[in-house]
Amino acid sequence: MGFKRNILITGGAGFIGSHVVRLFVNKYADYHIVNLDKLTYAGNLANLKDIEDKPNYLFVKADICDFAKLQELMNGYHVDGIIHLAAESHVDRSIKDPFTFAQTNVMGTLALLQAAKLYWESLPEGYEGKRFYHISTDEVYGALELTHPEGVEPPFTTTASSAEHHLAYGKDFFYEDTKYNPHSPYSASKASSDHFVRAFHDTYGMPTIVTNCSNNYGPYQFPEKLIPLFINNIRHRKPLPVYGKGENVRDWLYVEDHARAIDVIFHNGRVADTYNIGGFNEWKNIDIIKVIIKTVDRLLGNPEGASLDLITYVTDRKGHDMRYAIDSTKLQKELGWEPSLQFEEGIEKTVRWYLDHQEWMDHITSGEYEKYYEEMYKNR
Ligand code: NAD
Ligand code: TYD
Repeated sequence: MGFKRNILITGGAGFIGSHVVRLFVNKYADYHIVNLDKLTYAGNLANLKDIEDKPNYLFVKADICDFAKLQELMNGYHVDGIIHLAAESHVDRSIKDPFTFAQTNVMGTLALLQAAKLYWESLPEGYEGKRFYHISTDEVYGALELTHPEGVEPPFTTTASSAEHHLAYGKDFFYEDTKYNPHSPYSASKASSDHFVRAFHDTYGMPTIVTNCSNNYGPYQFPEKLIPLFINNIRHRKPLPVYGKGENVRDWLYVEDHARAIDVIFHNGRVADTYNIGGFNEWKNIDIIKVIIKTVDRLLGNPEGASLDLITYVTDRKGHDMRYAIDSTKLQKELGWEPSLQFEEGIEKTVRWYLDHQEWMDHITSGEYEKYYEEMYKNR
């Protein structure tokens, strides 16, 4: 069957990638979706069980650093669109092992750009619809200061859930033209890859798009990240390691809303442009942790506050960015996207999902994970 479009999604077995693959495979039966993933510790084909037999879906196990393989795939599947999510994504790991981050995030992105360029140059002139869409993070912009709104005492985010009601933890936001100022090896590697993507537009005229999104949460996130890690620890009555004073602020977006934004931008975004994606939903770590505890305890039938004693303040992350806050007005105004879920709804769905999918969690947290956890938290 001839497909209308042939799209390569990288990192589709990971957290966000699996939601993007699912959305595209289900929504666009006339697109062929090729999911390329190396299946590192973070990639898991169980994330895509429900769509793996669809006729418009194909999985290929490969490394984005394998240039010859990328060329073969571009030619073999006549790829006209790329949505690039494959990356090493955990800040703590990047602090321990920055080389892997430079290799995958920078060299891998460069290999993908070059493979796309060579294949697309071989196509007849005027061939329309080519897109190289690079998924990046708000962390490339650095960190914002924590300043409370005048006359308001924290905590004040517990009711913050939409742009209208949102109360920010500071006057500044990350805008599309905010100067890059990455601090962690992770964000430095993502910043570098963003520069390469834009350079391929400016130098070779590649039809690129870059988006920078805030912290995602939702089903299928690897339990090294705050929310799934804490849900799992509460369930097993394990300590909840809060870095520093728990004062750092993150801006949280439900993962399916990110996937919807990617769909809108892939189809309607302007070539060479940048869009920030976020839900105007800032939370101090300690406040979000208390909401997680409350929700898990309620759903497990524990008395309210039963797990608060698990909170354990530990040594802060090195170079811990204080605050991230995205201004996504441009995306909302120009392309009409907005978050579909209120935070309270999103966190309830998320906690429920992890509690209902204990098998998924148990599978992921066996073997290597134990070693990782031991190593990462032993000296904190
Ligand atoms: P993740 O770690 O859950 O998944 C990454 C996926 O990439 C995994 O399936 C892994 O196997 C694959 N991968 C890693 N190295 C690879 C390689 N060399 N070749 C092929 N595949 C490889 O990450 P995520 O949280 O889903 O993030 C996806 C993308 O979104 C990343 O580029 C990340 O920087 C960006 N992002 C993430 C967040 C967030 O909150 N998670 C926010 C903004 C942007
Ligand atoms: P994380 O989920 O690792 O995302 P990111 O570092 O990309 O924002 O962490 C979210 C916040 O939670 C961050 O400020 C670090 C903090 N944190 C803890 O306090 N304890 C933990 O065990 C983890 C993993 C994170």
